[in-house]
Amino acid sequence: MTNKLRSRYGEWALITGASEGIGLACAEALAALQFNLVLVARRGERLEEIAAPLRQQHGIDVQVKPLDLSMLANNQLLCREVESLDIGLVVTSAGFGTSGEFVENTWTAEMNMIELNCISSAFLAHHFGQRFKQQQRGGLVLLSSIVSLQGIAYIGNYAATKAYIQSLGEALYAELKPYHVDVLTCAPGPVATGFAKRAGIEMSFAATSKVTAAGIVSALARRQRTVRPGWLAKCLSYPLEILPRSWRFPLIDTAMKLLLRHPKTPHGKSK
Ligand SMILES: NC(=O)c1ccc[n+]([C@@H]2O[C@H](COP(=O)([O-])OP(=O)(O)OC[C@H]3O[C@@H](n4cnc5c(N)ncnc54)[C@H](OP(=O)(O)O)[C@@H]3O)[C@@H](O)[C@H]2O)c1
Repeated sequence: MTNKLRSRYGEWALITGASEGIGLACAEALAALQFNLVLVARRGERLEEIAAPLRQQHGIDVQVKPLDLSMLANNQLLCREVESLDIGLVVTSAGFGTSGEFVENTWTAEMNMIELNCISSAFLAHHFGQRFKQQQRGGLVLLSSIVSLQGIAYIGNYAATKAYIQSLGEALYAELKPYHVDVLTCAPGPVATGFAKRAGIEMSFAATSKVTAAGIVSALARRQRTVRPGWLAKCLSYPLEILPRSWRFPLIDTAMKLLLRHPKTPHGKSK
């Protein structure tokens, strides 16, 4: 696997959201495959704490870029700063969710989520997609979610940002394939990370970020279009896909009641 992915994509991988959760697990998995890494998130000190042991254990180069990617200008700055590196693989894992009634949340928070989850990922996919097309090799991993399959009450805007990413990723897979560029959309179910706390929800039956990262790496090796890492993501999503869209709503509502608690909703539970 080491030689396969590194020789397919090149020496450097860039990971956003690398200070925690799925992004961090991807950084660890790619370091084990001998990729040099560019790690991006807002907390610079945390990134340095992660970078030091990765350099030491794997003998790789690691650069850290403390940036708030919800601001487009910082995405542009990031692309300029890594121009001289042979980046061949990009994982856009920076993201967060809001929960509760959409109209009760501040517009600032909802817009910030669109800026990070959608605009940053789309901008980086556009920029690196162009670079990869030119060099006729590369890999792009976009973080979607199983909630991207249909509208879901009380995480409506979050699910909508993930529907955007899922749709974009599926299309780019086909557009970039002729140029030997792989585009993988990863749609996890619940994963135990910092995500739930920031979203103000509580999760049951969550997978680990390690299982999620391992799923991403093996799906890249197989050149898959979408991966749903772990048994729960598969069980929750595949049966739904064969049903007409209108039949899915009561089922997904029931599944969400079992899996998520939204303390901010009137009854303290998803409905
Ligand atoms: N966990 C789940 O259940 C789950 C399920 C499906 C999909 N996902 C998706 O997977 C991705 C990763 O989520 P996770 O579970 O790993 O969450 P997490 O543990 O909260 O990690 C989020 C990462 O994004 C970074 N980040 C947040 N805001 C940022 C900003 N404005 N600019 C730059 N970096 C920022 C955070 O670092 P800093 O705080 O240092 O900036 C952190 O490294 C997200 O897109 C999420 O939607 C998660």
